[in-house]
Amino acid sequence: MPNQELIVYLNGEYLPLRLAKISVLDRGFLFGDGVYEMIPVYGGKPLRLAEHLERLENSLSGIRMASPLDEGQWVDIFNRLICGSQDQSIYLQITRGVGTKRDHAFPAGVAPTVFVMCAPIAPIPASGAKAITLPDIRWQWCHIKAITLLANVLQRQQALDEGCAEAILIRDGDVMEGAASNVFAVVDGVLLTPPKGNYILPGITRDLVVELAQANAIPLEQRSISLEELRVAEEVWLTSSMREVLPVVELDGRTVGNGEIGPVWARMNALYQAFKEQLRTGLL
Ligand SMILES: Cc1ncc(COP(=O)(O)O)c(C=O)c1O
Repeated sequence: MPNQELIVYLNGEYLPLRLAKISVLDRGFLFGDGVYEMIPVYGGKPLRLAEHLERLENSLSGIRMASPLDEGQWVDIFNRLICGSQDQSIYLQITRGVGTKRDHAFPAGVAPTVFVMCAPIAPIPASGAKAITLPDIRWQWCHIKAITLLANVLQRQQALDEGCAEAILIRDGDVMEGAASNVFAVVDGVLLTPPKGNYILPGITRDLVVELAQANAIPLEQRSISLEELRVAEEVWLTSSMREVLPVVELDGRTVGNGEIGPVWARMNALYQAFKEQLRTGLL
């Protein structure tokens, strides 16, 4: 629960969270008409900032919006909100703004609503997670980081209700991604992850894991993973900015591999933690 005295950015102003208010006619509230980003910050430095801002640009252009701020302006806001060197996250959201009535059509000449908040990151549990698979009921533009997340919310909640950390979404027999994460599997010693496309979010953590695998001679293929392959994989992982690289030890009530966290995960996690440490200590 964010501290109510947290200072946040809303439409050009810095103010306490409890005073940050938007109109009920905001299109984010009425239609989920907006996009967002979540950027982890280590040692006061955002991880893969350029990549996050590039994905934001792509999400905005995907919903026919221009970026309201340039890179320098974003960085200025982030620097004012980042507090100390503790691990934290930047959440930023842009909506199409406030119309004069509830109407699906884009309102003419309105300024977007821009909100940014920085909050401490919760520590990541050291244990393996449980996951379930569910049919992917989302729309076809999952590459846009849209705030319209009802399907993801319902599917994550179903996982939680079943004592699991995540729902892995299956479309036409293939693994897409988690409700709020990307998916990796180790099959016959090869690290697999689904290729990018309009059915998955191009995760920044995913890309970093791919890069770390390639740079460290971990065999990797970006190709479709069938549900059958996932069920017999030696290892399954979920990746996201907030959960980093999370090993899945139980899938749909059955153990993954031998039920222990796997050796490829241990290697990748060490590489990922080392990357974070380099960022913290200014080596990146
Ligand atoms: C649907 C979905 N896929 C993947 C991810 C992982 O993206 P990232 O690694 O950029 O956090 C997220 C993160 O929230 C997500 O919501």
